[in-house]
Amino acid sequence: MTTTTTPSSPRSDDGAGRAAIAARTLRTDRWWFPPAIQATGLIAWVAYAVARTFMQADYWVEQYHYLTPFYSPCVSTGCIPDASHFGAFLPDWWFLPYAALSLPFLLLFRLTCYYYRKAYYRAFWLSPPACAVAEPHSKYTGETRFPLLGQNLHRYFFYAAVIISLINTYDAVLAFRTADGEFGLGLGNVIIVTNVVLLWLYTASCHSCRSIIGGKLNHFSQHPVRYKLWGWVSKLNGHHMLLAWITLGTLAITDFYIWGLASDWYSDPRLFN
Ligand code: FES
Repeated sequence: MTTTTTPSSPRSDDGAGRAAIAARTLRTDRWWFPPAIQATGLIAWVAYAVARTFMQADYWVEQYHYLTPFYSPCVSTGCIPDASHFGAFLPDWWFLPYAALSLPFLLLFRLTCYYYRKAYYRAFWLSPPACAVAEPHSKYTGETRFPLLGQNLHRYFFYAAVIISLINTYDAVLAFRTADGEFGLGLGNVIIVTNVVLLWLYTASCHSCRSIIGGKLNHFSQHPVRYKLWGWVSKLNGHHMLLAWITLGTLAITDFYIWGLASDWYSDPRLFN
């Protein structure tokens, strides 16, 4: 790889004092691999989630009270009455998801997440595609203009995500009661509870959560409880990327498992009732 002082076309990395490098990057490793994997994973997940959301079927297992998170809370008049834990009041239109009250906020929570921003800026917008790889755009304005300015709303979507996690927790608790009104425990409960626990961990590991808990304090010594919480959240925060991907997986697995049960593809292995 050679460097040259020959003037090249203007690029965003042509800052004053930097060497003009003809090559797009001097990196020799497979720097394109992570963004390629991320793009593939995100496209696959979004395709699955959109397809399932608009199926408007096979989201509830009456026998065990299992409700998929993609339909929670089920608030459309088209919902199966027992699956509507918080009432049904939205019109039953094919283009309106049964969980139209929560899905937009969950989508915006993930879309504005600090980690996902990094992932999709790199994977789709190539801005930049990787460290030390020049981006193809001629201008860089960061997140200072519309629509990216809206990324600053992330902390408000965090509050919405906490409420939705509480709703998912409520669904998980209700799933321990069978249609006969007895306590029940099956593989579905394990999958649903695992998903809810991981969703809480992902939500708690949010950068905004860390800032809300430990921010704007001059002296941690005067706020020992917040300091303790901040310490825990900071540890979780170090695993935020991992939790972001794991929860995409557990959401899809939980939904798929319930879809299969509701479609009678298999039965739920039961420990009790
Ligand atoms: Fe990822 Fe808040 S930073 S959810």
